Amino acid sequence: MSALPFDAYGGLSDAECQERILRARARLGKEVVLLCHHYQRADVYQHADLTGDSLKLARLAAQTDAPHIVFCGVHFMAEVADILSRPQQTALLPDLAAGCSMADMANLAKVERCWRELGEIMDVENECTPITYINSAADLKAFCGQHGGSVCTSSNAGVIANWAFAQRPKILFFPDQHLGRWTGHQLGIPLEDMPVWDADLPLGGLTPQAIAQAKILLWKGHCAVHQMFQKKQIDAFRAQYPEALVIAHPECDFSVCSAADYVGSTEMIVKTIREAPAHTRWLVGTELNLVERLAKEVAPQGKTVRFMSDIICMCSTMQRIDPQHLAWTLENLVAGCVINPIVVPEREAALARSALERMLRVS
Ligand code: 13P
Ligand code: SF4
Repeated sequence: MSALPFDAYGGLSDAECQERILRARARLGKEVVLLCHHYQRADVYQHADLTGDSLKLARLAAQTDAPHIVFCGVHFMAEVADILSRPQQTALLPDLAAGCSMADMANLAKVERCWRELGEIMDVENECTPITYINSAADLKAFCGQHGGSVCTSSNAGVIANWAFAQRPKILFFPDQHLGRWTGHQLGIPLEDMPVWDADLPLGGLTPQAIAQAKILLWKGHCAVHQMFQKKQIDAFRAQYPEALVIAHPECDFSVCSAADYVGSTEMIVKTIREAPAHTRWLVGTELNLVERLAKEVAPQGKTVRFMSDIICMCSTMQRIDPQHLAWTLENLVAGCVINPIVVPEREAALARSALERMLRVS
């Protein structure tokens, strides 16, 4: 059976796609489960069986029984689903171009070179634990598995960092400098003990003394969406609404996290605002789809939710998973064709699994 090509789907209207998605889902029944990240666009999110932040989705992927896991998120999330699911299950990503630009800011060649360079000035295997944010390619998770490290997400980074410090005195944290810095700050580490490692410079652009003093080496990576949020937006909001509350994702800059009342993962943001008293007012520093959905959901309780930036900033890669690609993926499954399976090679998957399982055990 040859796969149905995408060409026939690109021109379909959203309304027609919605109908076809529902029909295909009815035919597939328990054959398929749809996992959706909170940033997913509304016209796809409405079809989700399960939603969550990266940690919750990783746990759900490990628990589901469906033979096909259709991941409405980005590439690294589908890789995690493949690694943690059973061998007979497949993880599918409706559009392979749905990557994460932050994840792409670190790669294995650069991390291995960093590790080698650190090895020239310290006993790196005994003095430093590599921690990768889950927003990273599977081979970086495998690197952490191989070198006694772990994965973390935005909801467990503190717990994982504490675990790492119980093993060795330093952490190499990649690829998000902001999550690493905020996590270290929460643990009481001074900013000057968390220098940034620039992978394009020899020795990360640091002196051997700075590396010796460092507690956390922060990879020079960031999220293009979250870097749009600025402290001045919080200041202006507070000036207008002194009683209002501010909540931000830890991928935001340190100045934004420091000025917020709460900092946490997407799941934590959703839960905090859902459970807040009626008639509260919120400014939220995370992706627009989540914020708009939440604003609508809590409006009947008199809660006001405002997006932190004046300009639209969406996760444009996650946005690629649209109703056309979802209809295409599901109708191919109905026709017996698995398109866009995400398959991590077994050796790499085994090492990455050990780092992910360590994270799930510790947190
Ligand atoms: P969460 O784990 O908080 O959902 O974050 C994932 C992400 O990519 C945020 O940009
Ligand atoms: Fe990656 Fe940023 Fe999109 Fe999150 S919002 S998936 S970090 S590009």
